[in-house]
Amino acid sequence: MRLDKFIGNSTDLTRSQIHQLIRQGAVSINHATARKAAQHIQANDVVSVNDEVIERLSVRYIMLNKPVGYICANHDGEHPTVLDLLDEPNKANLQIVGRLDIDTTGLVLLTDDGQWNHQITSPRRECSKTYRVTTANAIDAQTADTFRDGILLHGEKKPTQPAELQLLTSHSALLTIREGKYHQIKRMFAAVGNHVVELHRERIGEIVLDDNLLPGEYRPLTNLEIASV
Ligand code: URA
Repeated sequence: MRLDKFIGNSTDLTRSQIHQLIRQGAVSINHATARKAAQHIQANDVVSVNDEVIERLSVRYIMLNKPVGYICANHDGEHPTVLDLLDEPNKANLQIVGRLDIDTTGLVLLTDDGQWNHQITSPRRECSKTYRVTTANAIDAQTADTFRDGILLHGEKKPTQPAELQLLTSHSALLTIREGKYHQIKRMFAAVGNHVVELHRERIGEIVLDDNLLPGEYRPLTNLEIASV
């Protein structure tokens, strides 16, 4: 990996700050001053900036309990983003694995492993996502059948794929879907004349939101959770 990329991946320094530090002779590889940002470093090389050794960051896999009011995006001019909830270096490298609406709460996964992200989000994989839904009106007995058969959403050419609805109370249910159209669940309930008032993601594939995480809290995934994808 290039020296400037390695430092950028493991610190909060910008590219131009890194280049300036290299020009100033503040960066060393194995205690010898580095001169070129493009120089390639090997797995065992020790890189220091101002005599401080840069620790290699291992790839991160994180589960977050998203609160209301946060956007699933790397930048937003208006609202805080889920990255604002993380106390992590080099947040720019983290990818958000699928998006939730600003008013949806619950399980959000983040990683800097692009391939792992793709395995979850690729439509071909049909990874299941389970949401707890609270509605304005009582959920009709027909709704489970309608969602299982698929429903044509406004502006779409194909019906939704079979989804499983499990009623919890008259106004709440667990809904499992295997795709991710824009505002899909809100639109599905709108299509049957209902309205979603609360939406909370509980599960992605085999990964279940940890009960111990309060809204806004996060933890690294276990090896089992990472491998379940
Ligand atoms: N469906 C929605 O309508 N909103 C979400 O945030 C996720 C799924």
